[in-house]
Amino acid sequence: MRKALVRAYMSSANLGPGFDILAVALDAFYDEVEVRVVGEGLSRISLSVGGKYGSQVPAGEDNAVLAPIEKALEIAGEKLQLEVTLNKGVPPGRGLGSSGASSAAAARAVSEILGGVFRDSELVYIAGEGERKVSGEPHYDNVSASLLGGFVLVSPGESVRASRIPGGEGFSFLLAIPEIQVPPKKTGHARSVIPRQVSLADYIANSSSLAKLILGIVTNNPKLAGEGMMDRIVEPARERAGLIPLYSEVKNNALKAGAYGVVVSGAGPSILILADREIHGELRNMLTEIYAKRGYKATIVSATPAPGARVIIG
Ligand code: HSE
Repeated sequence: MRKALVRAYMSSANLGPGFDILAVALDAFYDEVEVRVVGEGLSRISLSVGGKYGSQVPAGEDNAVLAPIEKALEIAGEKLQLEVTLNKGVPPGRGLGSSGASSAAAARAVSEILGGVFRDSELVYIAGEGERKVSGEPHYDNVSASLLGGFVLVSPGESVRASRIPGGEGFSFLLAIPEIQVPPKKTGHARSVIPRQVSLADYIANSSSLAKLILGIVTNNPKLAGEGMMDRIVEPARERAGLIPLYSEVKNNALKAGAYGVVVSGAGPSILILADREIHGELRNMLTEIYAKRGYKATIVSATPAPGARVIIG
């Protein structure tokens, strides 16, 4: 029986000034997708969903894994009966690229059972169909990071392109993940509050940050990268809309305690902190207390850049 089991890690998109174009895969959580061929000649896909967060994602047609598999079969012109299993290890609705990880794992797994027919750029497009299903429009930052691993740069538009940014391997991060109720279609809502026009001053400030961030990554300089983790356009709008609880407080205190940079992870509500491993313990205690004092339960986890989606059993 042909089958492939693929693991794909979570990711954090935007990294401050890189809205929709930058992301990093992180090793804090991962999804696994297994695709088994059980018949040929007609297309039929059955899905079973399990894992720690399996009950928090749709079990049927709306699950992020199905659209990439259907798209891959359509492009390859194959009719197969498939049994698909999703082991959901990335918490959904937290800005951790949860649907992106599922989509990336599904795209890589179906490609594997078809004989590895798709190039990375095609896999990014195919995996984006999972994001389209979940959030209504495909944004390719999370799927690109989960597919390629490490830091990625995405060129959006008609023919999407994603490239791995070399460097940043030794960077260490903390993720602050508050347990709050998020609105349904959270990402769509978080995108609707972003201003459509920006001032020249904000444009220049963000361009400067983006340049510093990328230079910091490629030269393995977390201090410079951290200086570039500054966004004057998207994050302030999302914070004003109440989508990122305690963001300013977390950011100011973490920077004061020696963190290099603090940004919203994807569309939030989680927060991503770049900081030397030596101060993670101190930061974890401080952040847990900040959230607890305001009545929030939050999980604070350490993470480092993760590899791309890969076949575990094939
Ligand atoms: N770049 C997207 C956004 C990522 O911030 O809306 C969503 O996960």
